[in-house]
This record gives sequence, structure tokens and C-alpha cells, in this order.
Amino acid sequence: MHKIELPKDKFFEKVSAQGFALTFDDVRLKTGYSSVMPDDVSLESKFSRNIPLKIPIVSAAMDTVTEHKLAIEIAKLGGLGIIHKNLTPEEQSFEVSKVKFYLNGLINKPKFVHEDDTVESIINRIKDKKYKFRSFLVLNNDKKLVGLLTGNDFEFCDNYNLKASEIMTTELITAKVGTTLDEAYEIMKKEKKKMLPLVNNEGRLCGLYVFSDLKRIKSGTSPMYNVDKNGQLRVGAAVGVGDDAFARLEKLVSQGVDVVVIDTAHGDSKLVIETLKEIKKQYSSIDVVVGNISESESAKRLIDAGADGIKIGQGPGSICTTRIIAGIGSPQVTAVYNCSKIADKTGVPDCADGGIRYPGDVPIAIGAGAHSVMMGGVIAGTDESPGETIFFKGRQWKEYRGMGSLGAMEKNKGSRERYNQKETGKSELIPEGVEGLVPYKGKLSDVIFNFVGGLKRGMGYVGARSIDELREKADFHMITASGQKESHPHDLEVIKEAPNYAPPTKREE
Ligand code: XMP
Repeated sequence: MHKIELPKDKFFEKVSAQGFALTFDDVRLKTGYSSVMPDDVSLESKFSRNIPLKIPIVSAAMDTVTEHKLAIEIAKLGGLGIIHKNLTPEEQSFEVSKVKFYLNGLINKPKFVHEDDTVESIINRIKDKKYKFRSFLVLNNDKKLVGLLTGNDFEFCDNYNLKASEIMTTELITAKVGTTLDEAYEIMKKEKKKMLPLVNNEGRLCGLYVFSDLKRIKSGTSPMYNVDKNGQLRVGAAVGVGDDAFARLEKLVSQGVDVVVIDTAHGDSKLVIETLKEIKKQYSSIDVVVGNISESESAKRLIDAGADGIKIGQGPGSICTTRIIAGIGSPQVTAVYNCSKIADKTGVPDCADGGIRYPGDVPIAIGAGAHSVMMGGVIAGTDESPGETIFFKGRQWKEYRGMGSLGAMEKNKGSRERYNQKETGKSELIPEGVEGLVPYKGKLSDVIFNFVGGLKRGMGYVGARSIDELREKADFHMITASGQKESHPHDLEVIKEAPNYAPPTKREE
């Protein structure tokens, strides 16, 4: 429930009256009377009108941050991953399908062979395509399912000229289209079958369950998982503007994407607003989050045009040079406050994107008005982020680069489009980001544990039981450089690294 006058309003009014805008290091939350135990708080929130979060953390749509592996893990932890768009529409929707498949188990387009294929040709295909499995469904000319080939059939076959139809098993257990994961699991257990093909009334193949997938799903789910109404992990995907958006949307929607993000460096622009309106017209049932912006008038324009969520942040990111190159932008805490004031009147959730460095930045972003935070740099160095670890200067690192960096823009027009340089020749690109290395951080779950821990503690100090209460109760102190210095450990040599803290000097080494 939104109150008209919030404790933080006076603070931000005074700051803005003097023409200032503030960011994370400029402020701290005021502590308040509390009967709230950090472990009892609820972190449930929303990324957009219809996309809930169990923790208010979303991973950035960047090619060194979010592909299916990280999206799966963050959704399992209760957050949400946004698959980046430095991929072709086919590749991006495939990434989405892998997240949706993770808890679904239903393979919509199973690999099959033809009954006349020779054993030799099938074995060659396994080698060429580097398939890790050796079981195939066998179809006839009418695309009807006629048999199954398993590893054993290949093992005991001593004539590779034989056809699939001559060595396949024909006694099949199949199930109807629409068979649920639970039903399939029971059938497979009862029949002791490792594969359960789904066929339609004409006997045509429509899907496949594999027992090992179902066993993993059944044994591993947790109430923290951020799942849709079908029990599949939620996932979002970034799209551009105009044709790019529609080329992606059709494929993304067919794979079950939960939310799309019109991902641009300047959300308050004509093409973005036109694209938003057109997406809402053509795909009315899918939530569309739009960004990035940093002014309240921009929030209003996007919400009036139909945005289901807005994303705030122009230049706060750890790899961003937009503010330095283009000279624009509002420091992030003020940007979040200003945009959320407008968004709150309409019930549209807002996400604070970029600039999060320490766990304590998360309660500050939410206290300023955000419903969620999007992070790139913090989670870029984890096991689940794309890319290999690199050994450099005696420790392990992973690559992290801005989507507006030269490297990312040269690789794909998805990145160039984000920075309005889709048609610009490679030699004329103006980068708005850098490429670098971040320390290798191990498992994503460990990083998120520390950020969630910091948020819960912040809520305890403010006396907020929920994300909405934190947004309503928060009030701020502005701090000086001495206050900031005092906030960090001082006057000692830190001899043991804390898992949730690295001093600013160390971070900049
Ligand atoms: P953090 O601070 O979490 O920021 O690393 C991630 C966010 O930064 C944005 N982003 C960029 N901004 N130039 C920019 O000005 C870039 O090259 C760039 N790449 C990403 C993006 O909003 C992301 O979520």
C-alpha cells in the first residue's frame, strides 16, 4: 500500500532543491525501532506487474553474465535471470528453452532417426553432432513412431549396414500428449522404462520424457524456486527495438519466456516507446519491462505507453562509461527515488539496474524505491556465468565486459543496437563501456547468500518486515567523504578476508 508522504520524501526534496543527486556511497539508511528479526523478513517482490520474485535480485542481460546456466541457478535461488541479446534469435530462444526445460522434463522436439537409416549412418551422426546420448526414437515415412534404438542395440549389432528398423525395439510404452511430469514419472517407474515418448491420436511423435531428467527434478525442487504456474523456472530475455524485437519475440514466446525486457541505453526514446506499444498490442499476455531511464518524466512516458515494469540506471554500472563519454545521467539513488515516485502511483514495479557493489547497496536501492535490483559485476565472476576462469597476477578471474564495450559491440548488433549504433561501421563505433576482469567468486549461491544476508540485516535495522515496508519506512542520511571512510573498516590491517566484504582499495587493485 502506498502512502502519499513517505519519510524519505523530505530528504530527497531537500537534496533536489539544492540541485544535487546522490548515489550509494553518498547515503546510509537511518536505523529505526525494530521488533523484526532479520531471518523472519519476507523478501518477496516483483520484477514487473505479473512476474513475482522470491528474492529481489535479477541478473543483468549481458553476455558475460546471463545465459541459461546462470538463469537456472538464480531462478532456483528465488530471483530471475534475463538472457542477453548478443545472440541470434534462435540461440537466445534456445537458452530460454533450456531454463524452461530444467524443471519441466518434457523434450518438445526429441531427436529421432528414420527407420531406413543404417546403423553406420546413425553412429556417424552421433560422432559428428557430438551427442552424449545413444537412444533414438525411430520414425517411419509418415512421421509415426515405430520403434526405439538404445545403446544396447548398437552394442550388440555386428553389421553396421543393417537398417534401424532391423535392430530397433518395437514394443513401446507411450503416453498421450498432455501427460504431466508426475504422471510420466509414475508410468516410467511402473513400467521400468527410461524413455516415455508422447504421441498424438495419429501415432505421431509429439514429445519425450527421459527418466533421469524426471528423477533429478522430483528429488531437487525447493519452495524457494521462482516457478511459473506450470512449475517451470521463470526466465526473461532482452530484446531490442523494431524488427529486432519482433524477430526475437515470436521465438522467445514459443519457448515460454516469462517476461521480455526492451533493453536499451536510452529507454525514453521514440523507437522504444513505439516498440513497447506494438509489443503490447501483439503480445498482450506477456509482461514487458522497459529501460533504461533515470528521470521521473521518462518513467511516466514509459508507463503511459504500457510498460509492465521499468528499469532505472543510466551509467551507474561497474563497466559503464556512458556518463563519462556522453556526459549524461543521474546518480543512481536519486534516479531510483524519482522514477519510483511516479511508478508507485501506478503499481508498476521498478528495478534498480547497475552500480551495486556491496550487500548494503541493495537495501539502499530498495529503500529509495526499487522493487528489485539488477546486478552484473557482482555475479559476473561466478561458476555459472559464461566464460572460462583466467589465471592472472596470482589469482583466478573471469571476463566481464560492458554491452557497450568495443568487444561486445563488434561481436553482435544486439549490443550496437542497445547504444543506438546498429548501422554504424565497426571502425566508427563509440564505446560506452569497458572490458575487464572480475575476481572469480565460486558458486552463485554463495554470492547471493551474502547479498540476501545483507538485505535481511538492513531490513532488521530499519524495522521492515517486507520489501514494501522497507520502501515505505526507509529514510536516509547523506554522508560526507569522512562518513564514508568511517563506514569501512579503518585503522587496522585486515588479515582475514570476509566472505562479504573487500575494501575499496583492494577492489581497485
Ligand atoms: P553492474 O554495476 O551491476 O551494472 O556491473 C550492470 C548494468 O550496467 C549496464 N550496462 C552498461 N552500461 N555501458 C553502460 O553505460 C555498457 O557497456 C554497459 N553494459 C551493461 C546494464 O544496465 C547492466 O545491467
